[in-house]
Amino acid sequence: MKKIVILISGRGSNMQAIVESAARQQWPARIAAVISNRADAGGLEFAASHGIPTAVVVSKQFATREAFDAALQAKIDEFAPDLVVLAGFMRILTAGFVGHYANRMLNIHPSLLPSFVGLATHQQALDAGVKVHGATVHFVTAELDHGPIVAQAVVPVLEGDDEDSLSHRVLEQEHQIYPQAVRQFIEGKLHIKGNCVHISE
Ligand code: GRF
Repeated sequence: MKKIVILISGRGSNMQAIVESAARQQWPARIAAVISNRADAGGLEFAASHGIPTAVVVSKQFATREAFDAALQAKIDEFAPDLVVLAGFMRILTAGFVGHYANRMLNIHPSLLPSFVGLATHQQALDAGVKVHGATVHFVTAELDHGPIVAQAVVPVLEGDDEDSLSHRVLEQEHQIYPQAVRQFIEGKLHIKGNCVHISE
């Protein structure tokens, strides 16, 4: 049984999609813990009500990024995960932390990378006037929102879209591709070669 630790900062809808897929599809894996950097993250309640251990490491209580990442790493490693899943985890991570989980940490970013890194990706897409937008699941490397791409989903940008309508359309796709990518990792189907991920059957 592989072990997954999921990190969240907020509502945790991607975490929820992963938990539900794992149960429904009977993955050979269990969600060992859901950890948040904010005590008020809505997703913690869902996790606890599904019998998943939860923990909070409050980022604001640490003077430096390094100190927080060290505490977070210690907490994560108590659960000895095979995979760390960032699901709306709103923190920039130190190179040391990222290196510790090299090739075993995934993130979802709400844009078609390499376009629109950072925050407010839906507004960035609207401002750029692109006709398609989407989401990307990628392995985490030290450079923010870079790293080998596992999966992408494309949605149209429609006449009259605003940030709300566009983010909603993208989020629906996130809930499809993220559980699928996590499952492929658990099944040993993701092979990183340089900056590319090859997916075996
Ligand atoms: C998602 O749009 C995800 O792509 C981004 O943050 C948002 C998190 O939403 N990284 P949720 O907490 O999973 O509902």
